[in-house]
Amino acid sequence: MHALILAGTLLAMVIALLAIRARARLHPRTTSLDLENDAAPPAFRFARGLGPSPAAAAFARALLRNPRAVGACCPSSVRLARTVAAAVDPSAGGLVVELGGGTGAITAALLQRGVPPERLVVIERDPSLASHLKRRFGEVRVIAGDARELASLLARRRAAARVACIVSSLPMMSLSRGDARAIGAQICAVLEHGGLLVQYTYQMGFAHERVPACLALLSAKRVWVNLPPARVEVYRHDG
Ligand SMILES: C[S@@+](CC[C@H](N)C(=O)[O-])C[C@H]1O[C@@H](n2cnc3c(N)ncnc32)[C@H](O)[C@@H]1O
Repeated sequence: MHALILAGTLLAMVIALLAIRARARLHPRTTSLDLENDAAPPAFRFARGLGPSPAAAAFARALLRNPRAVGACCPSSVRLARTVAAAVDPSAGGLVVELGGGTGAITAALLQRGVPPERLVVIERDPSLASHLKRRFGEVRVIAGDARELASLLARRRAAARVACIVSSLPMMSLSRGDARAIGAQICAVLEHGGLLVQYTYQMGFAHERVPACLALLSAKRVWVNLPPARVEVYRHDG
């Protein structure tokens, strides 16, 4: 798994360098690789998130520090972020809690989808990525902490109101079995009955043993435009 992540990282770096060189030639004045910047040409939009922005640098550092916890060679693509956000009903009421915010690709898509910033809580374990998220999303509650302590993190921040939806970027397959079980138990404890978990994975098959017993699978959708391709799974808390 580590070898795969490292190989993916090298591949991502090569693609990023090619994208940066192409961008410099085509758009010498373009400096932003923001999700909101849809004026960028398709090649940039595909490679967005891979450039040497502060976010990408923080992501690369987090990956080098703890490859198992990051579990991906690069941030989520715009297509993946939008597919994840599309599964969230912004009018459902209650909190939307994002686990493993990383560089904020999914956070930005959730805000674009219409989730009010005051109803969004982002948990990120890596301190430099958490600082980046706080800077990038001033109005969103970003908690630098571990999803294994989700319930107490939310309670401490007085954010223990109804949790209608959990959006997870956590690499459940590369985390240890114990960590995956602990996080699953926290998800079951804080998510309201009928609430949704939206989780993406790079795994080809379903890993039922990593899904907490309180959740029932509602849908799964493959997203090819991501490195690597991902599957977005939606679960409902059925108790
Ligand atoms: C696949 S990356 C997230 C990618 C993110 N969607 C993006 O586009 O940048 C997984 C993230 O989960 C975080 N993470 C891993 N284990 C965690 C835990 N137990 N609690 C909170 N965050 C965790 C990692 O630090 C990393 O930022």
